[in-house]
Amino acid sequence: MTVYPRMASFKSHTDFTDHLASIQAELPFDVQMQSGPDSPLAAPMDVDGVKVGNRFCILPMEGWDGTTDGAPTDLTRRRWRNFGISGAKWMWGGEAVAVRHDGRANPNQLLMTEENLSAIAGLREELVRAHAERFGTTDDLFVGLQLTHSGRWAKPNEKMTPEPRTAQRNSVLDARVKVTDDSAVISDDELRRLIDDFIVAAVRAEKAGFTFVDVKHCHGYLGHELLSGVDRAGDFGGSFENRTRFVREIVAGIAAAAPSLKMGVRLSIYDFMPFHPGDDERIGVPVPGADPRLSWGCGPTGLEVDLSEPSRFLQLLEQIGVKMVCTTAGSPYSTPHVQRPAYFPPSDGYRPPEDPLVGVARQLHATAELKRKHPGITFVGSGYTYLQDWLPNVAQAAVAQGWVDSIGLGRMVLSYPEMPADVIAGTTTQRKKVCRTFSDCTTAPRNGMISGCFPLDGFYKAMPEREALKALK
Ligand SMILES: Cc1cc2nc3c(=O)[nH]c(=O)nc-3n(C[C@H](O)[C@H](O)[C@H](O)COP(=O)(O)O)c2cc1C
Ligand code: SF4
Repeated sequence: MTVYPRMASFKSHTDFTDHLASIQAELPFDVQMQSGPDSPLAAPMDVDGVKVGNRFCILPMEGWDGTTDGAPTDLTRRRWRNFGISGAKWMWGGEAVAVRHDGRANPNQLLMTEENLSAIAGLREELVRAHAERFGTTDDLFVGLQLTHSGRWAKPNEKMTPEPRTAQRNSVLDARVKVTDDSAVISDDELRRLIDDFIVAAVRAEKAGFTFVDVKHCHGYLGHELLSGVDRAGDFGGSFENRTRFVREIVAGIAAAAPSLKMGVRLSIYDFMPFHPGDDERIGVPVPGADPRLSWGCGPTGLEVDLSEPSRFLQLLEQIGVKMVCTTAGSPYSTPHVQRPAYFPPSDGYRPPEDPLVGVARQLHATAELKRKHPGITFVGSGYTYLQDWLPNVAQAAVAQGWVDSIGLGRMVLSYPEMPADVIAGTTTQRKKVCRTFSDCTTAPRNGMISGCFPLDGFYKAMPEREALKALK
């Protein structure tokens, strides 16, 4: 079994860059970090007419910790406060918020109902207040809300009971959510009602004070799965025009109902065929018999990126007035190594089939290619956390060299919320807080628990779930 070197084993920048060269993973890299207002990461920018104060963005991350009615709890509020004190000036959506009950990914996912509007507004206010207390100004803070329907991966009522609403049949993924016939395929009429639900939720998000909404199209959830619905019959499947009808109608409806509200799309720009643990030490391998046509943005082998349709999709987004995109890749359910490169897999995952740095480089290159092709779109990138201690050096170079406009941070802000502020201030990285991709924040919810950084965040370290997770391992 190949053992990949751990990031913490690279003691100097040349150790790291030599390793990158040895695995042919090309990444931008600045040896010299800049700090203060001259840092490329501190440069403000205009996004769809809004001033955004720097080049860090917090990616949406849920905690499986809302009430069963879909309102935030103290745990949710703590996470959003941490986003506020991070120093990042762009909040891409906070976390996935379902537009209706059957679209919740778990019974504790937030739900954008009329009843929850003021509590979700309060969540945004906590974040803004925390940011103001730490950094003074919030004029250049850009806060959105991610709207979703979880489709195939919906579990609205019981933590362990899938209630999938799929875009189409897919033998490999159907087996994972116990689908045996066509009854789980969401009908065209239901999709039309769902489009209205997205529009209603967006209007509520605007009332709650959010400046933009993300019409989520990533990670195998409904919007994303519809994009690869080549076998789906009817108005929302088959041709590119039909597969993009869902997003077009949502965007048009929101533009009419809430003309001042900005819109973005978080997009899995490519995916691979589903993976599962192989016979060799549980290293991930493609599931035999998987159909590569059903994965969006990949070539005929199902194992290589093909950005031609995703690029066509971005062109369409520009035409319909969406000027910001957050790129991500893959799905946490079927291709977690593509989506969140990690050294240690979650309990339902598999050992990495490639050096996780290859996965990081893949996401950065694909984003850079799309940015070159679509200069009218502002791009937030994802997948940087695995870079760990070298994240700042890659992030600074990526922005300075125009690979991406803003550096999206996921897991790193769960373990080390102040990293963006420390980088911009030129403070030495707090190594003890650097996320080491232990994946407990994914393993916990996969086993019915709340999510959080149990190994490194003192607040979660003290919880009984930490012991339960240790026992699971
Ligand atoms: C605990 C957890 C919760 C997440 N929740 C969401 C979510 O609600 N919406 C979403 O689009 N992505 C979600 N993600 C994915 C992250 O936004 C991000 O794409 C991923 O972690 C890779 O970025 P990173 O390498 O910086 O962690 C979640 C990730 C984690 C670890
Ligand atoms: S549990 Fe903490 S250290 Fe592990 S991946 Fe999540 S954020 Fe990183």
